Formats: sequence, C-alpha cells, structure tokens
Amino acid sequence: MSRLRTAILGCGQFAHQHAKILTSLQEEVELTAFCDQNINLASEFSSLYSNANASIYSDHTSLLTHEKLDLLIICLPPFGHSNEVEMAAERGIHILIEKPIALRSKDAWKMVEATERAGVKTQVGFKFRFGEAVETLKDKINSGAAGPVALMSARYFCNALHAPWWRDKSKSGGQLVEQVIHMFDLLRYLGGDPTSIFSTQRNLFHKEVEGYTIEDVSATIISFQNGGIGVVYATNNAIPGKWINDYRVVSKNITAEFKNANHADFYFSDQDPVKSITVNSERDFTKLQTQDLIKAIRNGSATRTPMIEGAKSLDLVLAAVTSSEKNQQVFFT
Ligand SMILES: NC(=O)c1ccc[n+]([C@@H]2O[C@H](COP(=O)([O-])OP(=O)(O)OC[C@H]3O[C@@H](n4cnc5c(N)ncnc54)[C@H](O)[C@@H]3O)[C@@H](O)[C@H]2O)c1
Repeated sequence: MSRLRTAILGCGQFAHQHAKILTSLQEEVELTAFCDQNINLASEFSSLYSNANASIYSDHTSLLTHEKLDLLIICLPPFGHSNEVEMAAERGIHILIEKPIALRSKDAWKMVEATERAGVKTQVGFKFRFGEAVETLKDKINSGAAGPVALMSARYFCNALHAPWWRDKSKSGGQLVEQVIHMFDLLRYLGGDPTSIFSTQRNLFHKEVEGYTIEDVSATIISFQNGGIGVVYATNNAIPGKWINDYRVVSKNITAEFKNANHADFYFSDQDPVKSITVNSERDFTKLQTQDLIKAIRNGSATRTPMIEGAKSLDLVLAAVTSSEKNQQVFFT
C-alpha cells in the first residue's frame, strides 16, 4: 500500500509534535512538504524531519496547487485560517486540524460543509478523547453500565504569557476558545449535547501587561440535554511552569476522578461494598489520534473526532464568551 503523501501547514511549536509522530509512522506516511509563512521554519522542519527531501512553501495556495497530497496536517494559530480546508477538501485531501478550527462559528461550519461535501476524512486535535481513562469511561457510558451522566467538573490551570498572539483576544479568541476548549470538548464527548451555558470571565491579573486582552479567570456552568450539569473553571494565574487539567465525572453508577486523560480512579458507587479500579496508562494519545485518521483513510471507517465536532465545541466556547460579555445565560436550540 502506498504511503500517504503528507504536508504540515504551520511549522510552529506544536507542529513539532505532529512531525515527530509522522516520522514514527514512516511505513504509512511520507513527509512530502512543509509550509509556513516564515519559509525558514518550513526549511528547518524539512531538514529536521525529512533530511531536506520534503518541499517547502510559504503559502498554502502554492502548496496545494503544486503538490499532490493525500493528507494535510493544519497547525495554524486560530487567526491564521483562511480557505485552506476548503481548498484541500476540493482536491480530495484528508485533514487533521488543530483546535480551535476557527475563530468564528460561520467559518467553522463552512469547513464542515466543504469536507463533508468532498467526503474526505477529518480529525480535529481533541487528543484527550484518545486517553485510556477517557476511553474507559466513554465505553461504560456507551454500554449503559455507567448510567446517565449527572455532574462533570473540569479545571484548567496554568500561568504563562504564551505567544503574543495567544494573549490577544482578536487573534486567539481567549483562554477558553484557544486552550480550555479541550475541557469543553471532553464534557460534550462524555455528557452529550448542551442546552444552555452561563459563563463569567475576567482579566484580574494581567491588566498591566501590554497586549493582554483575554480573560485570566473564568467559571462556566453548562446544562446538558439529559439533565446533567457541567462546571469548567480556569485561570492563567496558577502555578508557573505547570499546565494542570483534570476532571471529575459523576454518573448514576460511577464516580470517576481523572488526574488526566490517561489516569483515573473509577468508583462503582452502585455496588455494596463500593468497588474501584484505577486506569494508569502512558499511551501516546496524540499518536493514536493520527493513527485513527490513517485507519479511516485506509478502511473508510469514521474518525473519532470529525470536523463537525470541532465546530460544535467551538460553538460551545463562543457561547461562553457571549454569555460572559452579556452577563446572560445562552440557550442552544
Ligand atoms: N492539541 C493540543 O494539545 C495543542 C497544543 C498546542 C497548540 N495547539 C494548537 O496548534 C495551533 C498552533 O499552535 P502553536 O503553539 O504551534 O503556534 P505557533 O505560533 O508556535 O505556530 C504557528 C505557525 O503558523 C505559522 N502561520 C501563521 N499563519 C500562517 C499562514 N496563514 N500560513 C502559513 N503559516 C502560518 C506561523 O508562522 C507559525 O510558525 C493552535 O491552533 C493551537 O491551539 C494544540
């Protein structure tokens, strides 16, 4: 079977992780091209990951016009998206795209429409869905063993200035849109579709930092169609050098305490005496996400996180932003 001709668009920090994963999958994937508006970065990636065999480009139009690709990995910052998804889809190119897939809902839904129309396989970078502990709970929810999910809480704590674009609301959308969206996606994945959201978001600690226009503390309550409730709380003023994201889920029959996507204690609260198990895994869930997409391309199966999931999770965090700006609950129809 021929290898998938693959390009990375956006050769910044996180693209290194994708490039390393792709080089570890060399039997399946050929690194064909790298594209970054900073051509030096594209060149650096080509040297690092393909012995300078891959072509380099500084804009996606040239990349997609000149290269015959099977797979495009899009690792652009939120403000960097334009029509690359639509162009790739029209050419039958499968796509892995980092979250958030856009800054505006209508742009995200155009991506969904274009990729579904073209019938290409897509995967959005909500990698925590592939954590072993998350997968264990999802299986128990799907089988009915967990019973209805009633309460979920998730926190995202960090303390860093990140890149200049990250702290600029017009470019990143804010901490929830750019980063904590991972937690919102997990709540949707485990708890189902939301019916309403109320969020309060404030900049309490970075008012004096030039160009820092996003929130640094927030708390959000979500209601779900099955009656369940979710709480997400986040800050960018916690422990410097640490990125903590953990969560708890209470369903009718199970209470799960997650340290992260791979590690959780499960308590079977419907049993007397209460039994418990611990999931303790070191699996590379980011790689599994890529492998799931490759399998879908080869076999025609569905991916775990197609483009529509990126649009739905974006809509959820955008509704949180609207709720905070208007100081009102936002309802989903
Ligand atoms: N899934 C995860 O856990 C995870 C982790 C980190 C980052 N991310 C996501 O990855 C994306 C990239 O983040 P990053 O930290 O690598 O950012 P970055 O700023 O380090 O890199 C982005 C790169 O894109 C390039 N670029 C911007 N606009 C472009 C355009 N129109 N055409 C070509 N190149 C362009 C920039 O020159 C830069 O090199 C973001 O959406 C971020 O949210 C995901």
